[in-house]
Amino acid sequence: MIHRRQFLLSLGAAGILAGSRRSALAAAMDHGLPAAEATPGFDPHVELSLRAEPGTAAMLDGAPTAVWRYSGSVLKGPADALGFLDGAGHIPVIRVRRGQRLRVHFDNALPEASIVHWHGLNIVQRMDGHPMYAIDPGQRHVYEFEVGNRAGSYWFHPHPHERTSWQVYQGMTGMLLISDEEEEAAQLPAGEQDLALVIQDRSFDGGNQLVYLNNVRHNWMMGFAGERVLVNGRADYRREVARGAHRVRLFNGSNATLYHLRWSNGAPFTVIGTDGGLLARPVEQPALTLGVGERADVWVDFSGLEAGASVQLLAESWTPSLQHFTSEQLGLPLVDGARLIASFVATAQQIPVQALPAQLSTPPLPVLEQAVNASAPRRIEISMMMGSPRLNGRSFGAMDEVHDSDRVKLGTTEVWEFVNEGGMGMGMGMGGMMQMAHPMHVHNVSFRVLSRTRSAAASATHQHLATGFTDHGLKDVVLVLPGERVQVLMAFENHAGLYLYHCHILEHEDLGMMRNYLVET
Ligand code: C2O
Ligand code: CU
Ligand code: CU
Repeated sequence: MIHRRQFLLSLGAAGILAGSRRSALAAAMDHGLPAAEATPGFDPHVELSLRAEPGTAAMLDGAPTAVWRYSGSVLKGPADALGFLDGAGHIPVIRVRRGQRLRVHFDNALPEASIVHWHGLNIVQRMDGHPMYAIDPGQRHVYEFEVGNRAGSYWFHPHPHERTSWQVYQGMTGMLLISDEEEEAAQLPAGEQDLALVIQDRSFDGGNQLVYLNNVRHNWMMGFAGERVLVNGRADYRREVARGAHRVRLFNGSNATLYHLRWSNGAPFTVIGTDGGLLARPVEQPALTLGVGERADVWVDFSGLEAGASVQLLAESWTPSLQHFTSEQLGLPLVDGARLIASFVATAQQIPVQALPAQLSTPPLPVLEQAVNASAPRRIEISMMMGSPRLNGRSFGAMDEVHDSDRVKLGTTEVWEFVNEGGMGMGMGMGGMMQMAHPMHVHNVSFRVLSRTRSAAASATHQHLATGFTDHGLKDVVLVLPGERVQVLMAFENHAGLYLYHCHILEHEDLGMMRNYLVET
């Protein structure tokens, strides 16, 4: 019966798809694969329905904004397994524990193909949301997996080839928060004192509707930059906080913009976690530089504020070509040279502050001595020759194409070196255009940042941004600045299969700055 229903739904969808803007190639590629269905032997602890669909969101004061969004409900498990950030709004947050089996019925009610990628998870290929698994409108893909990652702030987003940037921009982003015993032992601020902030920039027309890049290749190369910064889907984000310690999970969910964050009162950030969960020990730093996809968990004590007083999170925002946004470009005043991202306003409620433990966790960092290629790292050269963003001279090709240099062995540990030293090329026909910063992401693994090297002296901009790098702990995105070579170390454990690595500037990813890699047994 299920088969019959899906069949009818896909017939209805065919008409919508005919009018969609997807390339014929992308359409042809994902049709060969049947959508994954629920397996009877899999007994989930948490079962969710998740639907991608058009809707509206209250992003600005006044008229609602038309968006594409995830909605859903809990079919089995604790009621808070699926919620929405700040209780309302359009950004879902899934909460699971390490070791739980999760089943998600993903329904595509968009007018074009989509698929969900669980960013940061170590997971079998079939559940990773590779674009080859994109499902058509009206179809369902059932995800089933055991949550193996350690506690941390992960996220999910669409990954259909050439449409990721558009779909995320329309509103499709979710957080996936994993907890575990190790995290509980650290006794961090929880419940109302555990906040997640998704930072995204957008442009609006006079009627509060989203405006995206027009279809000019140069705009795509530069990446989208918006005048307004939204936090959790809201402009002018303001949040009441008790006067006590909080855990604030910061996440850059923008398409291309990178942020250099600081507190308005000049306090340093106390970083307790990054992409892959808690650090061994807290790290203090004056600023936080977050490229697209990067997360930083910070601990902050609001107990010194008077009731009614506030502290602001400020950000300089930079385009991938490292142009700092000015007030004129933004049409909004800057505060002390930066944009106002969020205000935290103290309530009268006082909460006793529990000191942060000196040892937060024991992250399972890969060990350099175990690398099979420490003396000759796997080199990934980033280039933008001839107006085409490439990795090792190649763009994303056929869905399952793997180059010989992109094969790794299951059970091995490797050093990868992202090289961003040139390759803008004359072919752009745009003399004087700068090289770009690229946040590089690898699916299916968490890595450790080993080193950053520069071929020439660092510019003032570079030195400035470097004060906020979050290269600690386990990462799955690393920002690679122009002129830089960044080495990362990762272990390919648990799953053989086909995965991706790519620039997480969504426009670059969609232009093909993405490659498959194969984990072989
Ligand atoms: Cu956020 Cu291909 O990933
Ligand atoms: Cu990913
Ligand atoms: Cu890029």
